[in-house]
Amino acid sequence: MKTRFTEMLGIKYPIMCGGMMRLAYPSLCAAISNAGGLGNLTSTMYKDKAELVAAIREVRKLTNNPFSVNVTLLPSMAKGPEQYRDYFDACAEEKVPAMEISGLPLNRFENGKYLQKLKDAGVKLFHKVGSVKHGKSAEKAGYDGVIAAGVEEGGHPLNENVATTVLTPRLVEEVAIPVITAGGMANGRSLAAALCLGAEGILMATRFINTVECQVHEKVYQELINRQENETVLYGNSIGLQGRALINDSIREVMAVEARNGSLEEVLPHISGQYGDHIWKEGNMQTGLIPVGQSIGLIHDTVTCKELLDRMVKEAEAIIKENMAKF
Ligand SMILES: Cc1cc2nc3c(=O)[nH]c(=O)nc-3n(C[C@H](O)[C@H](O)[C@H](O)COP(=O)(O)O)c2cc1C
Repeated sequence: MKTRFTEMLGIKYPIMCGGMMRLAYPSLCAAISNAGGLGNLTSTMYKDKAELVAAIREVRKLTNNPFSVNVTLLPSMAKGPEQYRDYFDACAEEKVPAMEISGLPLNRFENGKYLQKLKDAGVKLFHKVGSVKHGKSAEKAGYDGVIAAGVEEGGHPLNENVATTVLTPRLVEEVAIPVITAGGMANGRSLAAALCLGAEGILMATRFINTVECQVHEKVYQELINRQENETVLYGNSIGLQGRALINDSIREVMAVEARNGSLEEVLPHISGQYGDHIWKEGNMQTGLIPVGQSIGLIHDTVTCKELLDRMVKEAEAIIKENMAKF
């Protein structure tokens, strides 16, 4: 399966992993890259340049294949510009193969200085967008590709709420750089559909949680298998940052606070991430926000990254051939 995306990065399969706070560590990143996809190392889990450089080098010990680094550029949520300078310097100096940026585009951070620095270092830059307007502006700024993240996605879908099935072909109509589809992607059917919509590849996050190499608590795997596509909810419009999360006790409280126009102070404890370890390491699925997408409905097992990617590509090829035969 060859696309402009696989050719650009020299990867076997057009499948990348998105940023996953608290989960996208070197071991998972390398497992995905070794399986033929593009693994992800999520920078915001590291406190400074030295820590991120060490993590990048750890990935390189575990795989010779390309990988990407996610930077969630939301200055209000991090320690400040210093930390972002650290991340960008680390990625440029280590010449990482690719980066997935979300939030503010690189051209709007410190006059685009780091965009140029990263491009000069040969880093392929992808911006995750929820609208055509943002996609066009990323292309104009010099990004190498855009990730069309529809409202189905886990994490923080843009509050314009455009679905993946419309956002992808709209971006394909409007930009010349490769478009990668995100949000609701989880199996071979998703991959085949994304290619038919004009995408050059897909980005998944939620589906990668149910892999052996993600190393979350057994109860997390089971919960995601048990839950269905209608068991996530959008929250956060009252604080100006929409998110999607699994329905549980914490999100019900957040929704109740938002419904009565409660204060930010009441919402913050639930969304601050303080329960991360309870969720992922201890398997407590009721306390804290679990930022998964509607794609949970398509998760039926826990497999290795290699099994997942091989199976998806085989399935996508079979579906495309089967449908070609109809004409
Ligand atoms: C557990 C989890 C953590 C995430 N953390 C981040 C993050 O730190 N930065 C980011 O840009 N996106 C983050 N996302 C969003 C994903 O990168 C991706 O855009 C989205 O989940 C794709 O939709 P899917 O979950 O249906 O595959 C996260 C998603 C999940 C499931």
